[in-house]
Amino acid sequence: MRDTTHFIRAKRYSTTERERKRKREKDAREKRTKETRQTRQTREREGECRTRKMIERLEEEFSDPALIRLMEKIASACTEISDAIRVQAIDDSKGGTGSLSGRANSTNIQGEEQMKLDIYSHDVFEKACRESNACIGLISEEVEEYIDLRGVEQGEQQQLAPSSSDQQHKGHGLGEEKKYIVAFDPLDGSSNVAYGVSVGSIFSVFEYNKTTAKNDGEGNTRSPIEEVLKPQTGRNVMCAGYCVYGSSTDLVIATRKNTRVVGWTLDPFSKTYVKTRANISIPMRGKIYSINEGYEHKFSEGMKKYIRDCKDSPTMMARYVGSMVADVHRTLLAGGTFHYPLGKLRMLYECFPMALVIEVAGGISISDTGSNTLDSAVASIHERGAIHLGSKENMDDLKKCLGL
Ligand code: AHG
Ligand code: MN
Ligand code: MN
Repeated sequence: MRDTTHFIRAKRYSTTERERKRKREKDAREKRTKETRQTRQTREREGECRTRKMIERLEEEFSDPALIRLMEKIASACTEISDAIRVQAIDDSKGGTGSLSGRANSTNIQGEEQMKLDIYSHDVFEKACRESNACIGLISEEVEEYIDLRGVEQGEQQQLAPSSSDQQHKGHGLGEEKKYIVAFDPLDGSSNVAYGVSVGSIFSVFEYNKTTAKNDGEGNTRSPIEEVLKPQTGRNVMCAGYCVYGSSTDLVIATRKNTRVVGWTLDPFSKTYVKTRANISIPMRGKIYSINEGYEHKFSEGMKKYIRDCKDSPTMMARYVGSMVADVHRTLLAGGTFHYPLGKLRMLYECFPMALVIEVAGGISISDTGSNTLDSAVASIHERGAIHLGSKENMDDLKKCLGL
């Protein structure tokens, strides 16, 4: 008979070894799970402690407490919108309230179909700006008329707990001379939401200073809306930014005075915007051009030439998300150019804010005729315009093609 003792022993040994291995793996898995849970709990606790500090090191960018309050409110509005976007499909699939996903069965002033999230995001943004007690008026893509908040200024302000910045700057909080007008696109690229594609919010902030508004040259005081639309409208934007709801939620703000573009990333555990990019500058040259080539037949010969040159170049490549906020964010970080030459995008809450971000970061933004976007005069609040923006050297290539 064959002696199988060795074989059986070997088998027994390997079974025990396998069991040990399995146990080791199980222990490692449990350890990882425990660590993840602990990290999460710690970060949630940190979040609780930091609830009043929604944006990390914001005071390094702004000295005016009213503006700090406004930015904090805008940041928390963006958090709310970011969360809503990420759960709307769940709401839909469960046949929930239906308040977030799908079409609203209405159109905005521009005749564009509104999504429920467009309206939701507008409401969140408007409420945030009102609660900041720093605004005299609002302009939104989703609302036809200028929203006058002067009633609020004249004593209907909501009772807010004073923020730490108010306490540091006593007497300069509520009721000061300076008030702001915010123009916003509450949800940019909303038709992309249903497909899990990046979208965002865009805003520009105009300052209404009663003293300078009195000096209109004819002894009259300009109204807030006249002040926003005064010549070279884009130069009146004192700060602007956007929040992109993509792989991460990123808030980017440009301040004209500080000549700095700063980026924060939302930590979803603590709901705090962590400063991740202290001073963004756009690369001098990039490798990406971004345009909806589906409309090429409508483009000028110059624009067609630029696209052809990009295609002929061994280094250039195309990317187009179809949400301005995502396309411009990528252009800012990676360099290259973004174009919407057909004049669909709105000046006050799409073109100006992005132009300011790109310009402060060291890039260029122009209209179809080559004038600087921020030098444009705008006659009405929903006016549209053509825009090209991006890295200096790529924009020089474009200008040559456009004959500018
Ligand atoms: P909104 O969703 O706010 O109306 O903006 C959509 C805009 C902008 O995000 C994007 O750059 C552009 O529409 C895309 O338009 P096309 O689909 O015509 O390329
Ligand atoms: Mn938009
Ligand atoms: Mn929009």
